[in-house]
Amino acid sequence: MSIETDQDLAGLKAAGVVVRDALAAMRDAAKPGISTGELDEIGGQVFKAAGARSAPQLVYRFPGINCISVNDEIVHGIPSKKRKLAEGDLLKLDVTAELNGYMADAAITVAVGRVSERAKQLFACAERAFRVAMREVRPGKRAVDIGRAVEAEVKRDGFAVVRMLQGHGIGRTIHEEPMIPNWPDPDCRGWLKEGLVITVEPIIAMGSGEMVEDKDGWTIRTRDGSLAAHFEHTLVVTKGAPLLLTAA
Ligand code: CO
Repeated sequence: MSIETDQDLAGLKAAGVVVRDALAAMRDAAKPGISTGELDEIGGQVFKAAGARSAPQLVYRFPGINCISVNDEIVHGIPSKKRKLAEGDLLKLDVTAELNGYMADAAITVAVGRVSERAKQLFACAERAFRVAMREVRPGKRAVDIGRAVEAEVKRDGFAVVRMLQGHGIGRTIHEEPMIPNWPDPDCRGWLKEGLVITVEPIIAMGSGEMVEDKDGWTIRTRDGSLAAHFEHTLVVTKGAPLLLTAA
């Protein structure tokens, strides 16, 4: 969506705060021994206290409140009480909240205990690619400019973009126009305008960047079993620096 009124901006900001707080609560609880199902409940308590709802549940009937993916799982992992975190796991928390008809979406990658140096480089790279892409977020730029910036940064570290997954417009529902690719996708035609609300979300892997979907119909993992990382915020395009709605 594009922001048209003060009410739009206030509504999106409020949804963004819920996302930020749910992510922080889950991140702080992410220790070896806790299950992804328990983490999901912790995020769910933040939603409940704010009167917010899980957007993936609402829009896609996702069988959880938050998408929680571990190691080679890239996105859309289903939280489960049977899936306990272990020392060295690379955890992806992806939260999309709906509040009063507005939606905001963000994701972080969290190291559970000690992880390998290369794993640290991987999730640092996803976050850095996000920061570098922020320079491309201005009215008059194309969505593909973001993709070009992200992929260049990711390749610099010898990692790969998961090209099938991308950012998107957001606001009234989860996935809106335009698509925001993480590579210079020649099919991408979107332009950035002042007031447009989008996510920017580098999704990267240590290996080839190819992905497969599990039999559960949700979980997407790397084809080669390599580790994946994800970093995402919802933001508003402005004449100046983008306004991050889901950041602290
Ligand atoms: Co997203």
